This record gives sequence, C-alpha cells and structure tokens, in this order.
Amino acid sequence: MTTLEPIYTSDDINAAVARLAREVRRDYRDKNPILVGVLKGCFVFMADLVRALDMPLETEFMALSSYGRGRAKTSGQVRVVHGLRASVRGRHVLVVEDIVDTGVTLNFTLEYLSRRKPASVRVCALFDKSAARRVPVPVDYLGLAVPDCFLVGYGLDYDERFRYLSGIYCLKGDG
Ligand code: IMP
Ligand code: MG
Repeated sequence: MTTLEPIYTSDDINAAVARLAREVRRDYRDKNPILVGVLKGCFVFMADLVRALDMPLETEFMALSSYGRGRAKTSGQVRVVHGLRASVRGRHVLVVEDIVDTGVTLNFTLEYLSRRKPASVRVCALFDKSAARRVPVPVDYLGLAVPDCFLVGYGLDYDERFRYLSGIYCLKGDG
C-alpha cells in the first residue's frame, strides 16, 4: 500500500516561490540573468518562478541523470543527457533546482557551469533535504526545508508519477 502524507500545501509553496522571487529580483533586476533549470524536476518551479520574477531574464535547461529509478539515492555518477546550448560566458547564471538532496547533482552542475566562465553563479532551490546531504553545496536562495523522506508532487516524481500534484507529499509504503 502506498500513502501520500502532506508536507506542504500549494499555498505554502506559492508563498515560498513569491518570497524567493522577491529576493532574486532584488539582486538581479538589472542583470538580465540566465536561469538554468535542471530537468525534469525543475519545470513546475521554474515556470512559477519566472512568472513571479516578472523581470528581464533568459531561461536554459540542462538534463542530467543521477537518480536511480524509484526511490534509490543517486549513485554519485552524474551523466549529462542534454548540455547547455547557449553560452554562459560573462553572464550572471542562476541555477534553479527543485530539491537539493545529497548535493551530488548540484555539485556537478556548478562544476559544469564554472568551466564555462560565467560572470557569476548562484543557486535557487525550492526544497532543501539537508539531512541527506553528502556533498556540501552553496544554496543562495532557499525555499522550504523538507524532511529526509521520499517526496512527490510539484514536479517531483516517483517513477514519473505524481509530478502533477500542486502540493508536496512524503511517499510512504512499498510504492
Ligand atoms: P541529489 O543529487 O541527491 O541532491 O538530487 C538530485 C535530484 O534527484 C534532484 O534534483 C531531484 O530531481 C531528485 N530527487 C532528490 N530527492 C528527491 C525526492 O525526495 N523525490 C523525488 N526526486 C528527488
Ligand atoms: Mg526524479
């Protein structure tokens, strides 16, 4: 049996996104930043964030594979499925992450980006599962702390399921 235990409602999430947007806008309003989303999990957050930002910016996406299927933790081996198409050289880059769990993916992303010589790189993450961290990573704009359980909803999936949920839930049971 699988049950979904509510962690944050869509109202909680919307309030966190609005606050993050205010913080980011304060720092980037005149910088025309490139927001780099790490697919697939970021797409819901990214879509809400850019509309809440309501300022000039560009968007790019990269796809990395790291997480195993189901609830397995990342193996630590990150593979680039789709790299960046646009140049980030000399640009202000803001990485948009759905969730920072072990930190392995974000650490890889930051190394990948810094090799491409941006003017600056910062990180905006909606959810922080800090108890699961294995690699220390900087998170400059942080939405909501989450417990160390497997989360679904608001773009996060379990084997491609549950991304459509507008709140965030802890998946309990055998799946
Ligand atoms: P990390 O490398 O362990 O920090 O996490 C990498 C990616 O795994 C995140 O960007 C998410 O897409 C995914 N992920 C991590 N934790 C969860 C979770 O609890 N539910 C669903 N996906 C997750
Ligand atoms: Mg996933």
